[in-house]
Amino acid sequence: MTMWPDPSSNSAQIYQRALGVLPGGISRLQTWNEPFPFYAKSGSGVHVTDEDGTVRVDFVNNFASLIHGHAHPVIVEAVCEAVKNGTCFALPTRVEVELAEILCERFATFEKVRYCNTGTEAVMLALKAARAYTDRPKIAKFEGAYHGMYDFAEVSLDSSPANWGNDPRSVPYARGTPRGVLEDVVVLPFNETEASERIIREHADQLAGILIDLCPSYMGFAPMSPQYVDMLHRVTKEIGAVLIADEVISIRLGYGGGQGRFGLEPDLTVAAKLIGGGFPVACVAGREKVMSVFDHSKGKPLSPSSGTFTANPIGLTAGVSAMRLLTQENFDRLEVLGERAREGIARTFDNSGFPGQVTGIGSMFQIHMTQRDICNHRSAYQSSEEAGAIRLLQRRMLERGFIISNRGHGFLSTPMNEDHVDALADATSDALREMVQ
Ligand SMILES: Cc1ncc(COP(=O)(O)O)c(C=O)c1O
Repeated sequence: MTMWPDPSSNSAQIYQRALGVLPGGISRLQTWNEPFPFYAKSGSGVHVTDEDGTVRVDFVNNFASLIHGHAHPVIVEAVCEAVKNGTCFALPTRVEVELAEILCERFATFEKVRYCNTGTEAVMLALKAARAYTDRPKIAKFEGAYHGMYDFAEVSLDSSPANWGNDPRSVPYARGTPRGVLEDVVVLPFNETEASERIIREHADQLAGILIDLCPSYMGFAPMSPQYVDMLHRVTKEIGAVLIADEVISIRLGYGGGQGRFGLEPDLTVAAKLIGGGFPVACVAGREKVMSVFDHSKGKPLSPSSGTFTANPIGLTAGVSAMRLLTQENFDRLEVLGERAREGIARTFDNSGFPGQVTGIGSMFQIHMTQRDICNHRSAYQSSEEAGAIRLLQRRMLERGFIISNRGHGFLSTPMNEDHVDALADATSDALREMVQ
């Protein structure tokens, strides 16, 4: 039997067909692997089996979505039962109330919840809500922070030394981004409290909201400092801007999400990924006074929101099961495992002599092929050599039966144990030794 990336593998054959019908042969940038993707056939617990029959331990877990790994039996059973009763209705269902109640019980700042399907969509709704609430046009976000594909949220995602400026400039990510979008996005330097406050105040009367991530994944999950959190609380209150926490990933940092852990009190929160138990479920949630922009009960809402598949009962059923499985005990276990994974990988860098490091928090890590301190977009910005080295490490890890992202990210799942994270560290050690040679 041939295996990926053999040109006669099943994956190679599927890819040839894909090239005929999908741009570049793929549907999401993150699934790309050189020289072509390997195709998932099935997943169970910590494992994914590809179309060539190769089994690997999955440390990507659909980019932090699958906190319970693949095909958790409780979630599968609940979904199979739900499917029998119909998959979507132009009517509300009881389960939309059930999941919202669970979320509001866990997050101190959630008073009302509005669903949608993806993190991108939820970020868009949150930014529109902030504009509607304040009747102001601008939003602020961090240089280099990823928030999905909404034009406004993409600004300065990959600004480079050639265009990022001294104070961060609004740099388009996609060609054709309208100038108006760039003019209405204020870009902040992550964790630089004084500079950020100065920039925010320059736009104070125009600023609808500040969109933040407490530990941006593109910056090695560098944690936001307590001073920065304080500044955000103080300044948003003073200028009347809406503080929006993007917890699409950081929600996995604890029972009350990243905000519980960092003491952040946002007006609005964007949640997605794990809240759908492996299905596309996302939401904006927060203070009643801001969330009232979605309320239709007194006439046309200030920010109308709808969607054919919004609050889809199958996804919500999976979400309810996933959230119920996500106990404090599970968070505690994941915390310890995450620490063990990072310590193990850090030791491999010490032992191999390869100049690199691992960063992360809770159940998340990122491997970097540099030793400089990773604390913001500019320090996380990879040279082409570093980007090439991390892709090579990823390839060596795949060959050893471990899936990490092509930027070196990993996200643990509850079916993992010490053996899985120790094996990951051993494989990293082997891979680095081979690369040094
Ligand atoms: C912090 C953050 N926000 C928003 C998004 C967009 O979510 P989605 O891919 O569901 O559109 C992502 C996706 O990875 C993310 O990491």
